[in-house]
Amino acid sequence: MRSWSWRQFRHSSCTDAIVTTPEADQRHYWDGLSELDPDAAVIDPNDHRGLKNAYLASIRDRAFKEGVDRRGIRQGTVLDLGCGSGSSTLPLLREGHSVVGVDISPGLLRHASIRCQNEDALFVLTDGRCLPLARDSLDAAVTYVVLSYIVDDARVLRVMDDVRQALSPGAPFIMIEQARRRRRTMENGRKVQRTLTEWSRLLALAGFTLERRTILRHGRFPSTPLIRAGLLPSRAWGLARRMEAIVASRSGVFPWDYAEVCFEASA
Ligand SMILES: C[S@@+](CC[C@H](N)C(=O)[O-])C[C@H]1O[C@@H](n2cnc3c(N)ncnc32)[C@H](O)[C@@H]1O
Repeated sequence: MRSWSWRQFRHSSCTDAIVTTPEADQRHYWDGLSELDPDAAVIDPNDHRGLKNAYLASIRDRAFKEGVDRRGIRQGTVLDLGCGSGSSTLPLLREGHSVVGVDISPGLLRHASIRCQNEDALFVLTDGRCLPLARDSLDAAVTYVVLSYIVDDARVLRVMDDVRQALSPGAPFIMIEQARRRRRTMENGRKVQRTLTEWSRLLALAGFTLERRTILRHGRFPSTPLIRAGLLPSRAWGLARRMEAIVASRSGVFPWDYAEVCFEASA
């Protein structure tokens, strides 16, 4: 019989010995972040003043609103995939939509329920592999930097396919994700920034038709650190956003940086 000694465990932490799934790891990670301020938890936990997070959220919410409005959807049933603490859910509710928020983290969903209490919202916990949604039950779906946290393409495809089946035929899926010129895995293997081609291909394989692809901003555009440091007043944020969009439309994804890209697809 084999006898274990402490020497055999010397170089491994406790978690090394535990068999874990990527989904369990994600849940643990996001639940840990849910101890923080609800806005910091889901975008940049180190943005202590919250200005950068508010700026990025404003770009996200505007892209969602424009995408949904463009399809003439009023008071629709909208999925917020990976809704986190409900930061993107509330603006959709205020637009008059009913929102189903789905997330892998019970801790973040608790924040979302508090933020959106008394509103027409339903929050659902997912195991991160498949979505518990009925066929043809949605008028639109949105998501912001969630599928980047599913590193396995086959699993992304499965989730995208579930979204497509839950949407009525022709309904929009507005997906904002981070893209790079070359695929890059980061955050200890927990996140992947895919290329524009890879994201587009996954949407096509899941049965979506890509209607529009817009680079919203670059990760290291100079306005973001200025806003974060409080050097650009909020009245100038609209101008910063427009400048970012103009530069992005001409430059494409920079070789040295990631970009946040809005993919508008139809089911
Ligand atoms: C960067 S945060 C964005 C949160 C939210 N979309 C927002 O804009 O505030 C990523 C979110 O994805 C969620 N998430 C990660 N993997 C997931 C999965 N497989 N299924 C559903 N949600 C997931 C996390 O819990 C977290 O709330």
